[in-house]
Amino acid sequence: MHRRTIGSSILLLICALCTLCARPSFAASNDASAPSVMDEKMHACTTCHGVQGQGRNNDYFPRIAGKPADYLFNQLTAFRDGGRTYPPMGYLLAFLPDEYLHKISQYFADLQPPYPNPDTNPLPQATLDYGKQLVMQGDAKRGIPACAACHGAHLTGQQPGIPGLLGLHASYIAGQMGTWRSGTRHALATDCMHSIAVKLNDKDITAVSSWLARQPRPADPRPVPRLPGKLPLACGSQPE
Ligand code: HEC
Ligand code: HEC
Repeated sequence: MHRRTIGSSILLLICALCTLCARPSFAASNDASAPSVMDEKMHACTTCHGVQGQGRNNDYFPRIAGKPADYLFNQLTAFRDGGRTYPPMGYLLAFLPDEYLHKISQYFADLQPPYPNPDTNPLPQATLDYGKQLVMQGDAKRGIPACAACHGAHLTGQQPGIPGLLGLHASYIAGQMGTWRSGTRHALATDCMHSIAVKLNDKDITAVSSWLARQPRPADPRPVPRLPGKLPLACGSQPE
């Protein structure tokens, strides 16, 4: 992660801890447009994740809005319990019970704010074409299923446990594939993303993440309902 991101993370974390643990400072309002108590508390998260969890322009902090609630819950428990490591979030979540994490997950799952700006750094067209091919078709000879087979034809995710892959920066997507390959990110067993990530080399990961990070917001950005039939690999976070 960039040094600039680490520096700003520490500052943002201090603000976040104060906000998340503060008691609501005002009584419920009758004004429907007034921020709710939950809106106020979630400033603890949106300082890093962008207004309404949409992700930040030109930065590593990922979009969380609009992902399936069960997927978000699995990530929050992973940061709390050690399946994923990012110390500022680990501290923030350390003492929060599952019930509250479900509430937070549903709050962000229900939001559909605009996407952050797509990546635009120059790359050879051949790299992007190759990325698109792996995402949409996979590589049968190497046993790599199409990402779209699980993440949905429009890559907006699949209920209840598979997230969309759009609206994220290439640095974040490549970073996640790296942590799955090296074994520091764990999803619920059987961890299908680990099996996929270890088959991808650096060139594959650059191509896939760069192509994904350039895609526009689809007409309907919501995750699709559970697709019929079996997934190409079993995934613990998407029980059949
Ligand atoms: C200090 C900045 C910071 C704060 C505050 C913060 N996050 Fe994060 N969050 C991150 C970063 C950076 C990542 C990616 C970590 C990684 O590399 O795995 C992340 C990852 C996540 C993910 C996983 C995203 C995905 O698509 O898998 C979720 C969900 C999430 N955060 C929710 C929250 C919630 C809810 C809060 C408030 C309780 C919060 N975050 C507060 C920086 C922050
Ligand atoms: C067999 C189904 C399956 C296939 C195929 C698949 N994924 Fe996934 N993917 C998942 C599941 C399930 C998760 C959620 C894991 C968890 O709970 O952490 C996930 C999560 C992810 C995430 C985390 C997103 C975030 O916001 O942190 C990324 C990135 C990702 N997949 C990329 C890919 C790419 C790239 C491909 C194609 C090369 C791919 N996936 C193929 C099932 C799949």
